[in-house]
Amino acid sequence: MAILIKNIKELLQIEDTPKLYVKGQEMKKMQILKDAWLFLKEGKIEEFGPMNKFNEREISNKFPNMEVIDASGKMVMPTFVDSHTHLVYPASREIEYIDKIKGLSYEEIAKRGGGILNSAKKMKEISEEELFNSAMKRLNEIAAYGTGAVEIKSGYGLTTESELKMLRVIKKLKEHSPLTIKASFLGAHSIPVEYRGKQEKYVDLVINEMLPRVAEQKLADYLDVFCDVGFFTVKDTERILEAGQKYGMRGKIHANELDYSGGIQTGVKYNALSVDHLEFTGNEEIEALLGSETMPTILPGAAFFLGMVYAPARKMIDAGLPIAMASDFNPGSSPSGNMQFILSMASIAYKMLPEEAINATTINTAYAMGLSKELGSIAKGKKANVIITSEIPSYEYLPYYYGTNKVETVILNGERFN
Ligand code: NIG
Ligand code: FE
Repeated sequence: MAILIKNIKELLQIEDTPKLYVKGQEMKKMQILKDAWLFLKEGKIEEFGPMNKFNEREISNKFPNMEVIDASGKMVMPTFVDSHTHLVYPASREIEYIDKIKGLSYEEIAKRGGGILNSAKKMKEISEEELFNSAMKRLNEIAAYGTGAVEIKSGYGLTTESELKMLRVIKKLKEHSPLTIKASFLGAHSIPVEYRGKQEKYVDLVINEMLPRVAEQKLADYLDVFCDVGFFTVKDTERILEAGQKYGMRGKIHANELDYSGGIQTGVKYNALSVDHLEFTGNEEIEALLGSETMPTILPGAAFFLGMVYAPARKMIDAGLPIAMASDFNPGSSPSGNMQFILSMASIAYKMLPEEAINATTINTAYAMGLSKELGSIAKGKKANVIITSEIPSYEYLPYYYGTNKVETVILNGERFN
């Protein structure tokens, strides 16, 4: 199977020497090729170049069955990589959202047994098949908006059986979906009501019962903890991340969404692959992140939907840090997995330039999923996951013209998704 895309108005995010991620001032740079062609073969990016050095006959002689796509007036770029989602969930929570409109905070809703605990209750009742089918629909929805790889967390189980059930569903999605998927075990997402006042006992359960079974059945790539006020403490988080190290599982943790929780420093201390949310990031947190291998990941959808303060992305980039941006797609705090919206939020709310926004949602999120050697840019040998946009005037238009779908065609593993 081969696809030739020709007459591309602008081929975005190309790399001759692929990088694992970009940080600081480099985030402003994005290599583009105007009036270009791109050749995809056997699921990989084979070659690309300018139209004025292009011999279609030479390629079509070698690959007579290849599909030719004319991308006149259109942009081609790598698919988005969404490195933080909770898209396997049993039911939407729009009723609870009405309480939020009436003035209850996320923490207040959680205290009343709503929020994550509400999802956990429903998780017990739903069949694995229903869970799989609903998640598959969401995967297809985000792929149509241009997402080609996605991380999915457990964390709506909160019992050993339910957590394993969620992770089995994610495993099945990996097998059946053309998207590239990574799974994170998030047993420490919330404290079940019966463990209130003795949450270290729940942490014991996560460490001694859940984690060994998750590891033994190879159900998760990464380990997550919600390290924040009212949820898990630094001590809980350290215990869990330490236990994960025995199984070679790196952390990707929820940190500093609700307060200066110490989560960022803890993530860095345990060499987490990413720390995510980061609304409460000050000088100390920036200092801890500098020079580390931990990707600071901002989740604009949650901050927007919950009406929170925005993480200081500009300050972090100017201090020399990389920034990744993911959707946090979940039924409570970010009911959208549309990465085009995240791209726009990067510019509108976080004052990031279009190039920074594209880097944050492609190569840097690929790093935050451990995938930047195979995804996140247009480079020879990388996976053929590309987006062809509709006819648009410039790539700057992508974050600017927010709220509509500008992705026309999505190619995953070298094959048309739509
Ligand atoms: O990333 N912050 C913690 N967890 C999720 C919310 C999950 C939910 O409310 O269902 C988040 O925002
Ligand atoms: Fe999350």
